[in-house]
Amino acid sequence: MAKKRIGILTSGGDCPGLNATIRGVAKACFEEMGEDNVEIVGIQNGYYGLINNIAREMKPSEFSGILTQGGTILGTKRQPFKMMSVIEEDNVDKVKAMKDTYKAQKLDCLLTLGGNGTHKTANLLSEQGLNVIGLPKTIDNDIFGTDVTFGFHTAVDTATDVIDRLHTTAASHSRILMVEIMGNKAGWLTLYSGIAGGADIIVIPEIPYDVDSICEAIEKRSKSGKTFSIVAVAEGAFDQEEAKLKKKERAKRRQEAGITTATSRIAAQVQAATGIEARVCVPGHMLRGGSPSAYDRVLATKFGVRAASLIKAGKYGYTVAMVDGKITENKLIDVAGKTKFVTPDHQLVITAKELGVSFGE
Ligand code: F6P
Repeated sequence: MAKKRIGILTSGGDCPGLNATIRGVAKACFEEMGEDNVEIVGIQNGYYGLINNIAREMKPSEFSGILTQGGTILGTKRQPFKMMSVIEEDNVDKVKAMKDTYKAQKLDCLLTLGGNGTHKTANLLSEQGLNVIGLPKTIDNDIFGTDVTFGFHTAVDTATDVIDRLHTTAASHSRILMVEIMGNKAGWLTLYSGIAGGADIIVIPEIPYDVDSICEAIEKRSKSGKTFSIVAVAEGAFDQEEAKLKKKERAKRRQEAGITTATSRIAAQVQAATGIEARVCVPGHMLRGGSPSAYDRVLATKFGVRAASLIKAGKYGYTVAMVDGKITENKLIDVAGKTKFVTPDHQLVITAKELGVSFGE
């Protein structure tokens, strides 16, 4: 068997399960092709490392003992796709530089572990003739064409734990507790953890809210004798008026009004309207940290092993996915630039509504 030299990078926001995936790929490659036939080059800090040729060959032993480790042993960095083809002040042609590194490192293929932005650049490199394989990571679960991304379920567990803890303090103080959950575009994490944590109101970007409707839901609870309420709000939530605006205009108006996120605004409005004390909790990057859950370790391993079989078969230009519970792969071109959103008629949304959860519509 011809030797394969495999480049691997992690790009965009980190999440639990990156190392488990790296380990899955490496171990399956060593197992399937033999350690002597495989060389793995770790590229530091995502596409930044690929642009700047910051990479080194890794020893097989470096892929052991990392299954449970959060973050990424390769480091990561945000390198926006929209700037990839733009020559900036440093005068670097980033696409050419990435191709040059690929050549200089004598790679047979490149594995890119990342979210939506990472997949767009992966597709660009694939179109430029590089042998690329993507792996879908993100706590946002918003990559098109896959049922699930690794990192998501660990974040759901962490966010659920946060909501559980807020429940007891909200009940003790008879307060409204608003928790802001990461997810700028898609509300999957808020939806899942909101349901798992028993939130009374769930606010996500896909279903623009009306603050009066949130207040009504809280008052309805008060009237029925409930002394507290839990509201799970996605970081990227916006109201029905803002929904009519373009993203940039929305951001401008918020900046002018001194509003950082929807959560603090909702809290102030709800407290003023209902007279019930409202507090905000922002777990933020805690949701991205820590060891992957058992679910994510298994998923990451399955994804990694699939990537190894694609390498062995020389099948490039794909990203690994889970479709209807089965591990498979999608063409990068079919996935790049698309986002998987929660649909307002998604079964989980319906389930939550049937339970009496308000989406603040
Ligand atoms: O894409 C993952 C994510 O955690 C989003 O939920 C969040 O909006 C964003 O990254 C935060 O990015 P950063 O770590 O760059 O602040």
